[in-house]
Amino acid sequence: MFGHPPQSNKRVRLTLLTEEWVDQLVLWRSQPEAQRHQPITALGRGRLHQYLQSRNPGELAALADRDYIFIIEDEDRGGGVGWVTLEIMSRTHRLARIGYTITKDHWDQGYATAAVKTIARRLFTETPIKRIEADCSVNNPASRRVLEKCGFRYVGLKRKYLVIQGQRIDHYYFELCKDDLPGS
Ligand SMILES: CC(C)(COP(=O)(O)OP(=O)(O)OC[C@H]1O[C@@H](n2cnc3c(N)ncnc32)[C@H](O)[C@@H]1OP(=O)(O)O)[C@@H](O)C(=O)NCCC(=O)NCCS
Repeated sequence: MFGHPPQSNKRVRLTLLTEEWVDQLVLWRSQPEAQRHQPITALGRGRLHQYLQSRNPGELAALADRDYIFIIEDEDRGGGVGWVTLEIMSRTHRLARIGYTITKDHWDQGYATAAVKTIARRLFTETPIKRIEADCSVNNPASRRVLEKCGFRYVGLKRKYLVIQGQRIDHYYFELCKDDLPGS
């Protein structure tokens, strides 16, 4: 899985959210395409600035029981193309959950696949995390495809899982364990 670059050869860098990205992130999160298949809650500039002040980002290796937001940048041409969310569900049990969004102009170029591979590799090499979970709406085949391309295994259907635009939506539940990877 990690021994070769993604098929599209996209190379991305994930950087923890900083003040300079807040306006961009607020704009990205407000876009209808970003909200179609996931429950993006209102998170204005004020809340994001508060988030940054109350939660010193630190290094990923100093893993805390909390949420992280990473900006996805194209490593070759520069510029942000989306973001990854990371929730450390339990340090004790070494469980994490991820989410990801690419801005519409950059869809179908391999960015989400590159970003998910990158966060998985970093979690398994830089932190004690042993298991990563991800869910996607049954109406979001592109997101399911991203997880499959990144080696995640389908676990099952979460019926009526999340409320998205007023409707309870079934979700596919995926997992990736460190032990699944060759050489782990
Ligand atoms: C889902 C999303 C993250 C995918 O990002 P992306 O950068 O376009 O993903 P990639 O280019 O890495 O891979 C997309 C894959 O889905 C496939 N795909 C795209 N639309 C599809 C569709 N309607 N049906 C089936 N497959 C589809 C692409 O062909 C590609 O697979 P391939 O490489 O085998 O051809 C992006 O569409 C997005 O941000 N959507 C809005 C937010 C969102 O839904 N986030 C996920 C919440 S779980």
